[in-house]
Amino acid sequence: MQIVKTVIALQDAVKAFRAVGKSVGLVPTMGALHEGHKSLVVRCRKENDVVVVSVFVNPTQFNNKQDLLTYPRNLEADAKLLGDAGADIVFMPSVDEVYPEPDNRVFNLGPVAEVMEGKMRPGHFNGVAQIVSKLFAWVEPDRAYFGEKDFQQIAVIRAMVKLEGFKVQIVPCPIVREADGLAKSSRNVRLSPALRKIAPNIARILRESCNFALSHSVAETQQWVIDGINAFPDLRVEYYQIVDALSMQPVADWNDAPAISGCITVYCGDVRLIDNIAYRK
Ligand code: PAJ
Repeated sequence: MQIVKTVIALQDAVKAFRAVGKSVGLVPTMGALHEGHKSLVVRCRKENDVVVVSVFVNPTQFNNKQDLLTYPRNLEADAKLLGDAGADIVFMPSVDEVYPEPDNRVFNLGPVAEVMEGKMRPGHFNGVAQIVSKLFAWVEPDRAYFGEKDFQQIAVIRAMVKLEGFKVQIVPCPIVREADGLAKSSRNVRLSPALRKIAPNIARILRESCNFALSHSVAETQQWVIDGINAFPDLRVEYYQIVDALSMQPVADWNDAPAISGCITVYCGDVRLIDNIAYRK
């Protein structure tokens, strides 16, 4: 496994493989890697000759300065996990390397980026589009791997790919969860032991809502989830929205779209957690 820190070294490393006809897969991450990230790398390993992983805490996608400052970082442990998962090239650049000058690009990502996370975190998806478009331009991957934990992010990446005309296949990967159902997240380490015990109720109520949904409307199901989670004193739902799984737009009826998911953001104490569930696939 090669660890590269500059764009030139990244491009040279990829070029060497490309020259002998190898396919290239990319897994973009912000580090503090866990089993969720690892599942993407393992999938990428199966489907490509060369596995490139980026580890970069991208400042332009943080709309909250405190979140950026406290974002967990552990490059050594990350390198170890990536070695075990079979990565070939790991890109760990500095902020100056990625942004030698400010990136002023504004992406017209359309309605997928305007709801839910787009509404709550202004500028967040534009920052994601900035970094992922740079990575796609540098690596020119055949395939890129993204987790369904960040369900809306996948739709936004697809919109960016269409807008920019990248020839990359976007591969969505299932959510990896803890044994108690909590979606694995780099931010989970910020949960106190008491909050960590309460957090799995989010996934549990989402799961149970699939049963509730069989005999209730979209609006009733949405409210049932919100009320059930807010019943815990340390959990506060920021939004729960049942949406068309492709367009991310709210649905009014279970027959409004072929694929329907519910996307949630919950404050568990002061830790912001996201999760989602598929009602129709
Ligand atoms: P990060 O939060 O590090 O996540 C990197 C990738 O891992 C994302 O595609 C995310 O959806 C996936 N992932 C995280 N937790 C997961 C889990 N429990 N199960 C499955 N996949 C999981 O998402 C980002 O970084 C950034 O926005 C990025 C795309 C790298 C751009 O900076």
